[in-house]
Amino acid sequence: MTNEKTFYITTPIYYPSGKLHLGSSYTTIACDVLARYKRLMGFDTFYLTGLDEHGMKIQRKAEEAGLTPKEYLDPMANDVKKLWKILDISYDKFIRTTDAYHEAAVQKIFEQLLAQDDIYLGKYAGWYSVSDEEFFTETQLKVVFKDEAGNVTGGIAPSDHEVEWVEEESYFFRMGKYADWLLDYYETHPDFIQPEIRKNEMINNFIKPGLEDLAVSRTTFTWGIPVKSNPKHVVYVWLDALFNYITALGYGSDDDSLFQKFWPGINMVGKEIVRFHTIYWPIMLHALGLEPPRQVFGHGWMLMKDGKMSKSKGNVVYPEMLVGKYGLDAVRYYLMREISFGQDGIFTPEDFVARINYDLANDLGNLLNRTIAMVNQYQGGHVRKVSANLLHSDWLATAATYHAAMDKFQFNSALGAVWNFIARTNKFIDEKAPWLLAKDDTKADELNGVLYHLMENLRLSATLLQPFIHTTSEKIFAQLGLDETSFAIDGVAFGYTFKNAVAIKGEPIFPRLDMKEEVAYIKEQMAAGSEKEAKAVAIAVLKKEIVFDDFDKVDLRVAEVLSAKKVEGSDKLLIFTVDAGEGKPRTILSGIAKGYPEPEKLVGEKLQIVANLAPRKMMKKYVSEGMILSAEFDGALKVLTADKNLPNGASIG
Ligand code: ME8
Ligand code: MG
Repeated sequence: MTNEKTFYITTPIYYPSGKLHLGSSYTTIACDVLARYKRLMGFDTFYLTGLDEHGMKIQRKAEEAGLTPKEYLDPMANDVKKLWKILDISYDKFIRTTDAYHEAAVQKIFEQLLAQDDIYLGKYAGWYSVSDEEFFTETQLKVVFKDEAGNVTGGIAPSDHEVEWVEEESYFFRMGKYADWLLDYYETHPDFIQPEIRKNEMINNFIKPGLEDLAVSRTTFTWGIPVKSNPKHVVYVWLDALFNYITALGYGSDDDSLFQKFWPGINMVGKEIVRFHTIYWPIMLHALGLEPPRQVFGHGWMLMKDGKMSKSKGNVVYPEMLVGKYGLDAVRYYLMREISFGQDGIFTPEDFVARINYDLANDLGNLLNRTIAMVNQYQGGHVRKVSANLLHSDWLATAATYHAAMDKFQFNSALGAVWNFIARTNKFIDEKAPWLLAKDDTKADELNGVLYHLMENLRLSATLLQPFIHTTSEKIFAQLGLDETSFAIDGVAFGYTFKNAVAIKGEPIFPRLDMKEEVAYIKEQMAAGSEKEAKAVAIAVLKKEIVFDDFDKVDLRVAEVLSAKKVEGSDKLLIFTVDAGEGKPRTILSGIAKGYPEPEKLVGEKLQIVANLAPRKMMKKYVSEGMILSAEFDGALKVLTADKNLPNGASIG
């Protein structure tokens, strides 16, 4: 069915639950590189990206901002499109799962699966992570919270997100029924999951222990696609999301010609969602009589020195900042060169600046500058074509390594091959010493030959670099005096005839950077960007307006800490006794343990408490008589202290 000359590539559809950082740009740029490569190889290419807009996470985000989901989502979607414009992403289609055609197709698919009994109605109870939109069994949790009686009260998912207990009526997909088919599919399609190690992970951790039926609807929130035959259910956000890859091609609509032409395609994803794409996704497609994706590639994570990017750590990098200061190609080059695509990699400002200086400014930039200068100085800006390629085997090896690496998504190796070729060409200058040839009239042909090689190797290199840094390639072509702004990669070979003169003076394509200065700048921006985001969140959660009488119902008082200890069996709670000037102390439990590793140090502090809050039973054996005021700072809650001179029990208002 598949035409060999078509190519379909997709990014995950991202949750617009906050400003996108360098992580999602990483995947999107990688897919862009592939799409551009395939186009230049003569493939009819379709590149899809978009947004995953349903689910509890988005519903909560909108609520926090005091907006309807749609009001929250539309500006988000615009921002994301703007970002892809800044990164020059050549996508062919941008899907939003709130698009009407997608919703209609998903409803149709759900009803079909229901009608053929792949989906049935049941009941669900389990640990749910809102951030991951995913259920976990107790044994899958990374941390389990227990009370003294040993009952599990909560926990942390492998993603570090907190889980909550959810019980609901739910539709289920009979995954188990297809486990053997899936294993067989893996075996007969050895390239289906890449890199290889991820396949073993899936088989050993998920399929072999027994594939459980998957809950595919929710009733505890409303922001999703309603199940047509039972609209109190919304379709599980992952079922909704996965089908974007084919609804975007018109599957389930009147015109599915793009689907017929491009499916099956390649799904590029981060490693944390390989499971959804290599287990649930092919099974759901198979149940519908459709082909699984041609391949699922699970790439590694981009990390920061101190772990994952997080606002509270002040280590979030926004691509706009880097592009604004250093240019798009510096960012695209760094991301594709520094990190081996299947594996995790670490962003450091030092490596970023070093890559610009050594690879782009030095190796590539200098080769271009020296070439332009010599061609001008020795031959009035012109070179004549020569037929024998003195670096023939170097070029063939470069092209072979490059294509093999591109086919396996080893972008850093593909770039490495081009840079070896650039280094070889730089060395060629030193070997041939054109400045000596220029002094000897009998060596004029040899000099022309050397300069032709330099020009041609630059053209060949820039051609192979187009998928990665096409604006730089265009600048190189222009400096070489070419009328073309682009060259096909398919069939590119030594032997171009340069008709025009080269540039008079080649402007540096990448200026050298001062390492110290730029590292300091990037770090400053990372901290500032994180702070700005944190502030934006604080403003966004402003609650509904109240009148004075509402406020006046709250009895706030000054209270002195008499004792403060950890509550056994809880990671979160501290137990206080405080003197609120009432003649006998009060007990108050407060979920601020994270911010106070040594709570006894709080003894003697004057705090602000809510004194008229109804007493609340906590952890089975305690009664909390009030609440301590606190505010979030740097990822933890900190108490609001009061002036030491204020008497205990003083009324606040
Ligand atoms: O998972 N390093 O959306 P999401 C590398 N909506 N890649 C990163 C990254 C990082 N630090 N951070 C994010 C979802 N990514 C679902 C997907 S698909 C049918 C539904 C990239 O917003 C990476 O591609 O959490 C990862 O898989 C994706 O963003 C997760 O995006
Ligand atoms: Mg995620």
